[in-house]
Amino acid sequence: MADDFARRAAVATACSAALIAYALSGAAAATSHGSPPALYTKAQAAAGAKLYASTCAQCHGANLEGGVGPALRGPNLQRLAQKTKLTVGDFFQFLALQMPLNAPASLPKDQYASIMAYILSRNGYPAGPKPLTYDAATKSNVIITTYPGH
Ligand code: HEC
Repeated sequence: MADDFARRAAVATACSAALIAYALSGAAAATSHGSPPALYTKAQAAAGAKLYASTCAQCHGANLEGGVGPALRGPNLQRLAQKTKLTVGDFFQFLALQMPLNAPASLPKDQYASIMAYILSRNGYPAGPKPLTYDAATKSNVIITTYPGH
């Protein structure tokens, strides 16, 4: 009886792992080429990391793991993205208009773009040759997700 239960529990765990893997691959396939698009430059993400540390980390965690505010990478972001089919544009508009919670829309536009670049970098999106602009981030239809390993 106990063995039977343990075996069924093991099967259930394996199934949910498979479902998660499937969901992750589905999210990746939803981007235009099936691999993460390059939306920002390395320098921009580095600038964003500093801004994040001074204006966001106190509520979202030094490592984006969450705190008073939700996690901005990993399984939490993944669940949110799956549930809402959230795009980079939706996500960016929220953070640029509502954040920081204690002073919404208070940063210069280029700083919001840099912070978005940093968040993308921490979720597995690669750097590329073109900087992310505020306008491009606002309009982006790229599905926001966390790529495996991030
Ligand atoms: C004073 C605390 C605080 C600060 C500072 C702060 N946030 Fe938040 N943030 C929150 C809380 C609380 C929520 C959840 C609010 C909600 O769902 O309406 C949130 C939600 C978010 C969300 C939506 C995430 C989701 O899962 O729905 C994003 C994106 C975000 N914040 C980004 C940022 C960024 C980027 C900064 C820095 C510019 C920042 N936040 C600064 C507290 C904060």
